[in-house]
Amino acid sequence: MPRNKAQIKRIGVLTGGGDAPGLNAVIRAVVKVAVREYGLSIIGFIDGFGGLIENRARRMAEKDVVGILPRGGTILGTTNRDNPFHYPVKEDGKIVYKDISGQVMDNIASQGIDALIIIGGDGSLKIALELWKRYNLPVIGVPKTIDNDIAATDRTFGFDTALTTATEAIDKLHTTAESHHRVMVLEVMGRYAGWIALHSGVAGGADVILIPEIPFTIEKVCEKITERKKAGKHFSIVVVAEGAVPVGGQVVVKKVVEGSFEPLRLGGIGSVVAEQIEERTGIETRVTILGHLQRGGSPTPFDRILATRFGAAAVNFLMEGRYGEMVCLRTPDIGSVPLAEATGAMRCVPLGSDLVRAAREMGISFGD
Ligand code: F6P
Repeated sequence: MPRNKAQIKRIGVLTGGGDAPGLNAVIRAVVKVAVREYGLSIIGFIDGFGGLIENRARRMAEKDVVGILPRGGTILGTTNRDNPFHYPVKEDGKIVYKDISGQVMDNIASQGIDALIIIGGDGSLKIALELWKRYNLPVIGVPKTIDNDIAATDRTFGFDTALTTATEAIDKLHTTAESHHRVMVLEVMGRYAGWIALHSGVAGGADVILIPEIPFTIEKVCEKITERKKAGKHFSIVVVAEGAVPVGGQVVVKKVVEGSFEPLRLGGIGSVVAEQIEERTGIETRVTILGHLQRGGSPTPFDRILATRFGAAAVNFLMEGRYGEMVCLRTPDIGSVPLAEATGAMRCVPLGSDLVRAAREMGISFGD
């Protein structure tokens, strides 16, 4: 058994940011390893940083994690707001942002917690880093997001499940596309990275894939569709990442949400592209926005395994005194990197990757 360097007796755990399939598998691994390997007690904060700020928490034992491995979402609840270093408070009828991290530290002390495991995306990991830097609180981060866009890890859990859902959607859209001779546009999530669009597009046999990393022109998109029609293929499948941008253009923003970890809510590019395709090619074009279906459902075996490895490693690394770090996948191993290196930098699709090249060689258009 690894030595408990820090004499840690009780750990806290929370899930922050948008939910992703596999969160429960991490929680389960954290609880089981903490109890079985180290005899620790565990406190779970409810609703992410909201629970940490308001001291809403519950004791977690092995019995609390029974049966949660195949369940999507998070049994602890989550929010993508409530940054304690930038917390909205009403003063004289106006919202002002304050640093209430001292209150969070008081809550952690009142729970008798010696170390904290924060499972989240970039916004949550930045808060973890601040708690470590400012207060020396032993923290370890676990990277989570369906977008797969966190630097310093080869994969985040949640991505594989989202990709599977998106691929199934493309398979189903093929039916109507072929039968009705239509262009079917599928808008997928991913924020400013094109991982979900690229991987599902290739896996589902899309004809056009638009990703944020490769600005597109509508002329090139329509060229591909028209070329297919001339070759006797009277339908096309276009996969558009929500963060895709036309050359010289901007991302399409659905809403600005103040106080959120990610204030710009993206969405709508699929409809813009679909309208332009129909107008220019004369082919009936329909759009499907996959939305939160990508975040839901039971995690795939890959995500369950990665999440379990991350959760177990998070506890082990804490007990080895590797604070201020984030667990990561360095294929084939699980390792850790300083949170400072892991946050702030985004992992985008490398344009020279073999998958982009293979897609091009297979005749898939990126609209460029
Ligand atoms: O980061 C995960 C993600 O699902 C993005 O792909 C998407 O842009 C965003 O979250 C949606 O967030 P919300 O659920 O807050 O609308």
